[in-house]
Amino acid sequence: MRRIDYDTEQYQDYARGRALTERQQQTWISAFGAVLPKGRPLVGLDVGAGTGRFTPALARAFGPVTGVEPSVRMREIAQAQSPHPDVRYLAGSAEDMPVPSASADYALMFLSWHHVQAKPRAVRELARVLRPGGRLLLRANFSDHHPRPWWLEHFPRGFAADAALFQPLHEVIEMFTSDGWRVTAFGTVTEPSVGTLGDMLQRLRLRTLSFFAQLSTDELEAGFRRLEEAVAANPAAPAPVFAEPLLTLERR
Ligand SMILES: C[S@@+](CC[C@H](N)C(=O)[O-])C[C@H]1O[C@@H](n2cnc3c(N)ncnc32)[C@H](O)[C@@H]1O
Repeated sequence: MRRIDYDTEQYQDYARGRALTERQQQTWISAFGAVLPKGRPLVGLDVGAGTGRFTPALARAFGPVTGVEPSVRMREIAQAQSPHPDVRYLAGSAEDMPVPSASADYALMFLSWHHVQAKPRAVRELARVLRPGGRLLLRANFSDHHPRPWWLEHFPRGFAADAALFQPLHEVIEMFTSDGWRVTAFGTVTEPSVGTLGDMLQRLRLRTLSFFAQLSTDELEAGFRRLEEAVAANPAAPAPVFAEPLLTLERR
């Protein structure tokens, strides 16, 4: 995987390129609620919070949240655009979180796990910050349980290049269970459609997905040419939905 530096790429367009509709956000919050520990309020960590796409919604639904984010630029945008009285954004990473031991009931990692460099260290750090019985909600893709977004097929090597960003599911599970965690749930969540094919194309043009950084200039040009042609045939058609994996682990 070509490493993404969110301080130099993606940050300007991320919030627009990856914006969630109210329905999409609600779908995720319901899915998280179903696998979180019982009882409210819960103390949460949004690890790799980015621009705070989920952080205020987590606070509204479950209780106070700390968004931990290594990129200065992403954090600045979160602070400016995603404020909430029960949310704070702090510098840190999954490997090194500026919060006390056993202080959180859950941690969400929404598409941030594959960016973590020192994964064994992150497994230990996540165990440190969660209370016994605390949950880690890993919304990650896995090379062998990979969603098939409709637009990916238009890019040369599209599916293979995207799947290669992620570990196989058994490898992630092994990393955690060999360190004392247990799997409590694995399933998929189908996010409601973003809108039309045309709406989705507008977002994809912003290239706020790590996938695009893996392709050559030629592959990108060819892919966008094909995608533009396909969408031009029916831009008002609804963008198809697809199922996205969610793995839940418990710190014992
Ligand atoms: C695809 S974005 C996801 C952001 C947010 N969770 C969301 O869903 O919008 C990936 C984020 O992970 C962050 N990240 C990179 N390395 C990380 C690490 N070691 N620990 C935690 N987050 C990391 C990036 O800075 C970036 O903000």
